[in-house]
Amino acid sequence: MNTINDYISENKDRFLNELLDLLRIPSVSADSKFKDDVRKAADFIKEKLISAGADEVEICETGGHPIVYGEKMVGADLPTVLVYGHYDVQPADPYELWDSPPFEPVIKETELHPQGAIFARGACDDKGQMYMHIKAFETMMATDSLACNIKFIIEGEEEVGSDNLDTFIENNKEKLKCDVVLVSDTGIIANDVPSITVGLRGLSYVEVEVTGPNRDLHSGLYGGAVPNPINILSEMIASLKDENQRINIPGFYNDVVELTAEERAALAKAPFDVEDFKASIGLSDVEGENGYSSMERTSIRPTLDVNGIWGGYTGEGAKTVIASKAHAKISMRLVPNQDPDKITKLFEEHFKSIAPESVSVKVTPHHGGQPAVTPTDSPAYLAAAKAMEASFGKEPVPFRGGGSIPIVSLFEQILNTKTVLMGFGLDSDAIHSPNEHYGLFNYFKGIETIPLFYQNFSEMKG
Ligand code: BES
Ligand code: MN
Ligand code: MN
Repeated sequence: MNTINDYISENKDRFLNELLDLLRIPSVSADSKFKDDVRKAADFIKEKLISAGADEVEICETGGHPIVYGEKMVGADLPTVLVYGHYDVQPADPYELWDSPPFEPVIKETELHPQGAIFARGACDDKGQMYMHIKAFETMMATDSLACNIKFIIEGEEEVGSDNLDTFIENNKEKLKCDVVLVSDTGIIANDVPSITVGLRGLSYVEVEVTGPNRDLHSGLYGGAVPNPINILSEMIASLKDENQRINIPGFYNDVVELTAEERAALAKAPFDVEDFKASIGLSDVEGENGYSSMERTSIRPTLDVNGIWGGYTGEGAKTVIASKAHAKISMRLVPNQDPDKITKLFEEHFKSIAPESVSVKVTPHHGGQPAVTPTDSPAYLAAAKAMEASFGKEPVPFRGGGSIPIVSLFEQILNTKTVLMGFGLDSDAIHSPNEHYGLFNYFKGIETIPLFYQNFSEMKG
């Protein structure tokens, strides 16, 4: 055993307990009732960066929740790594679907986590993964082995669209200057199948409102003779996909980069078992765009999904009513070269054009994000691959993820810096869902792998 691994095993319990303390802070960025807790989480990160040995640690105010910054410069001739992560979490609702309270972490074994997993909101996304970097940093400082300059930018608004981050990066270009951005906010294929995410989807997210009559109506007195906004919204949504499950919005696919047969074959090498996929979420069959595998449907193809739909009477019993309004929230996941603003515009034009004369339609865009692809031949990718190969005993496979991390393209646009997405979560860790968890194996594997990345990157860049 080397000193780094000695240090990690000697401090294992504390590394875990500190994460549990962080998970007890309900830093839900979307809900203003948790505003003080979000700040508490920022203070917690600040303190831990200081005690790990960072300099210039500060809480940077933004128009929303604060950003925590810290750095350790160890040599002007050494490469600089910017670590990005987020300390905010998704809302935990609905609480009744959790087996244990979301902000009272407990450790339980699961089939995929025989060594135990921490159950709490944010355990995997992203507190557990982000905190690995602070503990890896502490380890490198304590063992005098930090081989790169390191900068931390830990934000509190990722789950609400990182609205204030571009201004912050824009205003602090010099301070954030780096050779690579390192992020652990994605996953691996399985604990015995290490992988590195090399592509993420973009996002266009809209809310629609369909208005018919100027008030709710008695469904007997008026039904049959007036437009019912809920019926109409349902038909409009149903028409957005054709019989091949392709999206019917004119121009939607214009900018999509089609992969070559070779590229598709390379991606298909990543182990993916559709039977396991179905079983893990209780499905008897899958569906999606014709001509593509399930893995392709969640990575290299764009999608359109209703995320919420409401209107009319949804309380107990029956109320005979035709609602004045119907609403839905719709997300479109985008692939490289599709532009979220352009897609939002195409959606809005099309959605309004398919509405019957009898109703009016309002489309409100929410936050979006650019898709991203990251290189597999850069020194940083190779440093990460070599680090994972050493810690997992197996070479990681590159693969594309279906989720979105809009900051990846921001870092590229504003800082002209590429990102390495070295995440350690599993798709089955239930991020954004009840009973989110993060494996102890994954947490400690991350803390063990990260210092290897710094060593490799320093050697490859130097
Ligand atoms: N960490 C996730 C994204 C993710 C998870 C990417 C797993 C790949 C694998 C991130 O916190 C997230 O939830 N992003 C949002 C978008 C954001 C704009 C709210 C998403 O993907 O829905
Ligand atoms: Mn995340
Ligand atoms: Mn998330």
